[in-house]
Amino acid sequence: MTKVWDGFIRGFHWLLVVGIAVLYFSGEEGWLDLHFVVGYLLLALMITRVIWGVIGSDTAKLSSLFHHPKHIFAALKSKSSHTGHNPAGSLMVLAFFVLVFVQLVSGLMTTDDILMEGPLVAYISYELAEIAGDIHRLNIDILLVAIAIHIVAIMMYRVKGINLVKPLLTGKNDIDTAAPRMKKGWIAYAIFLLLVVVVLYIWGQEPLNALI
Ligand code: HEM
Ligand code: HEM
Repeated sequence: MTKVWDGFIRGFHWLLVVGIAVLYFSGEEGWLDLHFVVGYLLLALMITRVIWGVIGSDTAKLSSLFHHPKHIFAALKSKSSHTGHNPAGSLMVLAFFVLVFVQLVSGLMTTDDILMEGPLVAYISYELAEIAGDIHRLNIDILLVAIAIHIVAIMMYRVKGINLVKPLLTGKNDIDTAAPRMKKGWIAYAIFLLLVVVVLYIWGQEPLNALI
């Protein structure tokens, strides 16, 4: 057994899943105070993930996500396990990072034209806010398609005999390979907590007060 995912990557993934589910339903239902607060938490989480992509464990590194197309195709055909994201999975991860950031940043510039407006709306023109709103409503559908592909891909690996979910829960995979360099996950959680406090202090007070 080799430790492949540190505590933060594992927590990050499942917090991301819960966060996106809450944001999807609160957006659709128009529960915008909840939507804004969870949006800010997710923003802090994603910024932490990027920072961890620079200073974190080997398998968290953003630099390990870029591969030659040749290796991506080879990974799709391969039947063996890989330490960290394989080159095909890395492409999916990069796509998620872009899609989630587009959703977050467009949300910050979106208004419901009634009561709520993202904190960046005040700094941009009405036309730009309209475009951001269109992107926010369109990009969510692309994100949902990406999530569906992601889950089908994970299931296909399972059929090939590779369980990717277990390592993301326990941190360890079933093969013995050279151990990647791991960093302590709590360092990332401390950065996350700090960012949560900063983002909620700057932008979150109104929706937070409305919620509690
Ligand atoms: C809202 C839905 C989801 C999103 C946005 C999402 C996003 C992601 C991201 C960004 C990563 C890369 C983690 C990192 O390096 O930071 C990842 C990896 C992974 N996800 Fe998800 N995920 C979702 C749902 C799920 C579900 C429901 C499952 C389980 C069935 C799952 C299983 C996995 C696994 C096993 C990996 C690791 C893949 C590997 O070994 O390379 N994901 N996901
Ligand atoms: C990944 C994060 C996010 C997701 C998945 C998400 C998802 C959604 C969804 C599904 C809707 C409903 C769209 C529709 O009516 O068809 C929505 C609406 C909205 N979101 Fe987000 N959102 C996110 C982040 C944010 C953030 C950070 C903000 C601002 C702080 C924000 C502000 C808004 C506003 C103002 C609306 C209402 C737009 C309208 O009335 O048409 N969102 N969001």
